[in-house]
Amino acid sequence: MGLNIRKLTGHFGAEILDIDLSEPMSDATFAAVSTAFDENSLILFRGQSLTPAQHIAFSSRWGELEHHVLQEYTLPDHPELFVLTNKKKDGKPLGAHKTGWHWHIDNTYMPRPSLGSQLYAREVPPEGGDTWFTSLTAAYDSLPEDLKARIADLKAVHSYAHVYALKYPDREPLSEERKAQVPDLVHPVVRTHPATGRKVLYISEYIIKQFIGMSVEESRELLDELNARATTDDLIYRHQWRVGDLICWDNRATMHFAQPYDDVNYTRLMHTTRVITDVFKGERAA
Ligand SMILES: [Fe+2]
Repeated sequence: MGLNIRKLTGHFGAEILDIDLSEPMSDATFAAVSTAFDENSLILFRGQSLTPAQHIAFSSRWGELEHHVLQEYTLPDHPELFVLTNKKKDGKPLGAHKTGWHWHIDNTYMPRPSLGSQLYAREVPPEGGDTWFTSLTAAYDSLPEDLKARIADLKAVHSYAHVYALKYPDREPLSEERKAQVPDLVHPVVRTHPATGRKVLYISEYIIKQFIGMSVEESRELLDELNARATTDDLIYRHQWRVGDLICWDNRATMHFAQPYDDVNYTRLMHTTRVITDVFKGERAA
């Protein structure tokens, strides 16, 4: 099945045209979509009109979906669908707000990190609220050889409690029960993408608390350097959302950053799902 594809940058990202995701999708078409996803690390569908159930049904083609640890921000009848918004009803937030305003890979702190995320725009502000993406395969390739050698066997501690305390001081502190659901985890810094065989710089700003065998200060310095190299202008794709856009990005090969917006004068409403199946199944030793 041939897809009508338009590349978004020279090195990653592609828009897939002429597909209505509210319609049932054949296995052959999904196989082509899945291949485009693996090859491009990010695929965009514009002009969609999806119910929560249709969004979930499409995302589920990749595998099992996460039920987010913050269940109060999921839709009542759809625990797989996490809501990002500044909207409130009767003073109560209708979703998580100020989320992901830093460079990160989704869910690296979970026992089964996310294979990919599917973010769908329902309401967008006229300015701001863009999402920036970078390719972590291109980022790895761009590193100087001495830095590649330095991180070849390095491992990092990924910590939800760490990022939560740093980035969400205005939220309720994490309960001990929730902390227990997301204990700190260790991942290699250099991974091999199971579908492409390419090496990936598997970093996540603020979520990485420390590198194993390094002090907190040394870790911070190295993470800052890796992050800066991974987010240079030539590596980034900046997506300006329109209502009806759905982006599926590969959490094994990209990092992203949610740009703030004027949340006093504008509203933004996004729905997201995350696939948690077999994230690095078949990973070869890097
Ligand atoms: Fe995110």
